[in-house]
Parts: sequence; structure tokens; C-alpha cells
Amino acid sequence: TVVSVEHALAGKMPAGGEVTVRGWVRTRRDSKAGLSFVNVSDGSCFAPIQVVAPSSLSNYESEVKRLTAGCAVIATGTLVASQGQGQSFEIQASSIEVVGWVEDPETYPIQPKAHSLEFLREVAHLRPRTNLFGAVTRIRDCLAKAAHRYFHENGFYWISTPIITTSDAEGAGQMFRVSTLDAANLPRDAKGGVDFGRDFFGKETFLTVSGQLNVEGYALALSKVYTFGPTFRAENSNTTRHLAEFWMIEPEIAFADLAEDARVAEEFLKYMFRAVLNERADDMAFIAERVQPDAITRLESFVNAPFERIEYTDAIKLLQKSNKKFEFPVEWGLDLQTEHERWLTEEHVGRPVVVTNYPEHIKSFYMRLNDDGKTVAAMDVLAPGIGEIIGGSQREERIDMLDARIAQFGLDPAHYEWYRDFRRYGTVPHAGFGLGFERLVVYVCGLSNIRDAIPFPRAPGHAEF
Ligand code: 4AD
Ligand code: MG
Repeated sequence: TVVSVEHALAGKMPAGGEVTVRGWVRTRRDSKAGLSFVNVSDGSCFAPIQVVAPSSLSNYESEVKRLTAGCAVIATGTLVASQGQGQSFEIQASSIEVVGWVEDPETYPIQPKAHSLEFLREVAHLRPRTNLFGAVTRIRDCLAKAAHRYFHENGFYWISTPIITTSDAEGAGQMFRVSTLDAANLPRDAKGGVDFGRDFFGKETFLTVSGQLNVEGYALALSKVYTFGPTFRAENSNTTRHLAEFWMIEPEIAFADLAEDARVAEEFLKYMFRAVLNERADDMAFIAERVQPDAITRLESFVNAPFERIEYTDAIKLLQKSNKKFEFPVEWGLDLQTEHERWLTEEHVGRPVVVTNYPEHIKSFYMRLNDDGKTVAAMDVLAPGIGEIIGGSQREERIDMLDARIAQFGLDPAHYEWYRDFRRYGTVPHAGFGLGFERLVVYVCGLSNIRDAIPFPRAPGHAEF
């Protein structure tokens, strides 16, 4: 019976007592007694399984003793309780078939030793073979599935929003161009004809920065919806918190105000953290041992305490009263920088913080203007160690106000005609937020660089693999 390593380690013996596991060699150690211990991993759980190979195997000298890290094998044998420390079960092998050799073990990039994260980014296509990236990958998967499960249990529909678009959803001019329609400069094919392949859409198109505007339309028919997909930003992403291509989870709720939005954000984050604590204890134990000593305890405290809520105006006062020397100025009307966000959440509160009601001119055009005429119903959720992980708001549902904001920000109303329809036909108050999925992974895994939170990071100068 072929079983996963996870299944074999759980010691659930199938009738007949023989099991087969398939995977890749992590390490091999030969004992003087004429045995080899081959650790095999298949990614199904953190731990590899120990395969004990006796010298009586027909390929013992010719193959087993030549196995190195990375070789692919199929091992069959009897599952027995292990004598070794920290091992539950091991396989006494009756056969080990080598499926794929590592052609030059000396130059194989993933040696059985600790590698620097910088080095592993250079071989991002091979790094899933390491302990750390195996753990991060399983935790990322756990978070994604928990997100879908939360929405499913709470009556949200999953909406796929487009990647190619003409509208700048944030109005911040950070879009990657897909195609241009520049009359003087139409792309020509070799014979001088217009290349319609490159001008496919007959309009200037871009990669989306957010699915929000589209998903708002679905909230105004299906009430509770979310989008979860890749988004793209041509901003200066040469930092440890920015990617040019990242995934975002964006719920949108009809008839909701900012308070309800913040309540959902808190419940949603806690739901995902509980899932990781329950389902990925093996990977989190490794993270706590090697990456972030308090990785588990801080998630537990995150889940057990209410988030703090602070108005932007009060946050500014707190920052000004702190005797901390900040690099960037703190003044009402200026946006909070990462150093300010981290001070608020780490030093002032020691827990996640929801900052609300930011000055209207530093936030996006679609946010609802508050009655004071100076602030919008926006919120950011700040987490210790990283700062902003969620940005959200109540949306401007009044068409005259929305038009005034589009004009104020110098945006082309023609690009938002379809979006205005939502305010013209059955408009209601509604709210939503966007969670940067890689920032969440960074936080949970205690990573120091967001490029380690996504399998193939895209950043200035980095698009290989
Ligand atoms: O605050 P942002 O720009 O908000 C929006 O895009 C809204 N449309 C969301 C909504 O209300 N539906 O981005 C949301 C989150 C940020 O809080 C951050 O976690 C993440 O997306 N984010 C990035 N993550 C990685 N790399 C980047 N360049 C990011 N830019 C934003
Ligand atoms: Mg933001």
C-alpha cells in the first residue's frame, strides 16, 4: 500500500503490514553494523520518515550507499515503532527503488545544511525542498484554505475578478501596462501592419491593483462576497514588505458600516490563526525553534485578546507624545509610516490595532467621507512585527460625493462610469477590506522578508523562474 509519510508516521498499519512511501532523500547515514538510515520526505508533513536499509538489499552496495540528498526513491517495508529519539515509526525496508538520481551531488544547490535566505532566493525554484520553505508552504496553504472556509461558513460567495483591467482601483497610478493604444505609435508587425495581437483590447489596459471595484458590484446583488487573487503594483517594491505581484483577499459586505467591517476583519484573522495553531503544529514548532521563538505564543495571544481600536487623530497624538525619535514626521494629515505603525502596535499596545478615520486626502477616492468633512471611514489593521496587514473602508455610496472625490483626485470619470452605476441603481452603504496575503504569511511565519512568503517573488529586477 502506498501511503504518505504523514500517514506512515502516524503508525496506521494497513493489513499485511507492508507500506510503500515515495519521496526524496533528506539525509543518509551508514552504521558500522551494515545498515543505512535513509530519511525520506514527501512534503505531507514536516518530518521525514526514517527508512532502515539492511545490507541484504540487492542494490545495497550499488545504489543505496550512493544515495544523496535530493534523490527520489520508492521505499517498501514493514512499519515498526522506532527506537530512535523523536521518531514515532520507521520503515524496515525490504526494497528501495531509486527513481531519480541527483546528477552531481557536489554542486546540488540544496545541501543538507543551513542555507542563507538570500542564497535560497537565488534558487527559488529549488527552495521548496528545504525544511523552512516546506513549512512556509504548508502554512500558506493552511491559511488560504481557512480563509475560504471562513467565508463559506459565514455566507460569502467567492467572486473571480479580472486581472486585466482599464480602471485604476486605487487611483494611485501604480499599474503595470498590458497594452497601449497610442495612435502615433501603434505596434506594427514585420510587414508594417497594425499588430492587433498587442492591441487586443482597443484600449489602454493594465494589470489590476485590486479586485475591489468589481467585487463591490457583486456585493450589491449577492450581499456578502469576496475575491482572492493576484494583484500587481508598479510601486517601489524594493522593501521587505512590498511585492510587485501579491495575493489579496478582499471581502465586501452590503449594508455594512466601518464598525461591522472591523468586526469581520478581527473575526476573520482570528479564525485563520486558530486554523494554523490547530492544523500545522509540526511546522509552527519548527518556526518557533528556528525562526521566531514566540511564533506560537504570540498567535495564541492574538487569538485570545480583542484588537485595540484607535482613531487616526488619537494615534497622531500618541505618537507625538511618545519620546521616540522617528525618521518621518508625525503630523495630522500625513500618512502613517511603517515605523509609526510598528510603534503603535508593538510598543504602545503590544497587540494588533485597528486605526480608523484617516484624513480624506491621504486615502483612496472611493472611501466614504465622514460628517466632519475632513476624514474618511477607513481602517488599517496593524500587526506587531510588520505593521499594516489589512486596509479597508466603508465605501462612498452617495453618487454626488463619489463624483466630487473622483474630480478631487484628478481621475478620469470615463474610467469609472460602470462603477458609478452601482451608486445610480439601488445603492446601499457597504464596506470591505483587503488583506495582503503575503503580509499575513510573513507575520505567522515570523519571516523578515516578504520575498520568502510567496513561492516565486516578483520585485524590481526579479522576474526569473
Ligand atoms: O491598503 P490597500 O492598498 O487596499 C486596497 O487595495 C483596497 N482595495 C482593499 C479593499 O478595501 N478591498 O492594500 C490592501 C493590503 C495592504 O494592507 C497590504 O497588506 C497589502 O494589501 N499590500 C501589499 N502586499 C504586498 N506587496 C505590496 N506591494 C502591497 N501593497 C498592499
Ligand atoms: Mg493601505
